[in-house]
Amino acid sequence: MKTVLITGGSSGIGFEISKYFARGGYTILWVSLLAEELETAKTALQKEFFNTSVETLTLDLAQSASAQKVYDWVKSNNWNVDVLINNAGFGTYGFANDIAFEKEVAMIQLNVMNVFKMTRLFLKDMLAKNAGTIINISSNTSFQPVPKMAAYAATKSFVKHYSESLIEELKALKSKVQVIVVCPAAIKNTPFKNAAKMEKVKTFEGLVATTKEEVAKDVWNGFRKGKSVILSGSKLRRLIWLNSLLPHSVVQFLLRRELSEK
Ligand SMILES: NC(=O)c1ccc[n+]([C@@H]2O[C@H](COP(=O)([O-])OP(=O)(O)OC[C@H]3O[C@@H](n4cnc5c(N)ncnc54)[C@H](OP(=O)(O)O)[C@@H]3O)[C@@H](O)[C@H]2O)c1
Repeated sequence: MKTVLITGGSSGIGFEISKYFARGGYTILWVSLLAEELETAKTALQKEFFNTSVETLTLDLAQSASAQKVYDWVKSNNWNVDVLINNAGFGTYGFANDIAFEKEVAMIQLNVMNVFKMTRLFLKDMLAKNAGTIINISSNTSFQPVPKMAAYAATKSFVKHYSESLIEELKALKSKVQVIVVCPAAIKNTPFKNAAKMEKVKTFEGLVATTKEEVAKDVWNGFRKGKSVILSGSKLRRLIWLNSLLPHSVVQFLLRRELSEK
């Protein structure tokens, strides 16, 4: 029986991805912030996949000691994590100076430091066994600077660059351990939009917008096919080539439109 550990697995794309792993026969470990949401999500998942074992841990992953606590939780239960999905994350929106400072510090702790620490802790064991996969959820905001999402885009650039460097290192080491980085476009139907105070922002109905169902399918298919970088959804895949061809000023003009409010 294989095991997947998904941070933020109890909502949004984390929950949708969990369904594929449940169907694939995996035991599921979730770590999220809200205890009640974890319980509700567990009930919902097991209603659909009644044979699936789901273990949950309520933890604020934006705290600096949390990655170690997750690792200790896994070790004390003698679980073997075959797949780690660093998915928990949130965004902030607005001019940099208008966003609450502490909120962005917490975001950097979660989106960057927690991903880094979880990767380091679990990669060590995977390398020792020469087996395992780490899937890091980045974003299409990692491709270029994103005014009004300056800090968020920078956190996702860290995730993309760090993951891509690890992918190259693992190739050089001829390791069977796999690192995958996922870059979804704006997702219409997850709580992310409201949490980031982006309810009125056009991007969620914009040029490349996608859904949690499409992202989960892309992640599962990419994982099964052994992909390293997963661009998610289909509209993003069709238009991404424009990003490198268009002048910076045109890309920024399009971004300003996408990130403006209705
Ligand atoms: N939505 C988009 O447009 C979009 C686009 C590209 C990339 N992404 C990335 O996709 C990932 C998932 O986002 P989503 O769209 O599925 O939104 P979501 O439903 O809000 O998922 C975020 C998850 O992270 C967890 N989380 C947030 N803060 C946490 C904390 N301090 N400690 C522990 N867990 C915490 C949440 O748990 P609780 O619910 O318990 O708080 C939730 O399960 C994020 O990394 C996001 O940056 C999203």
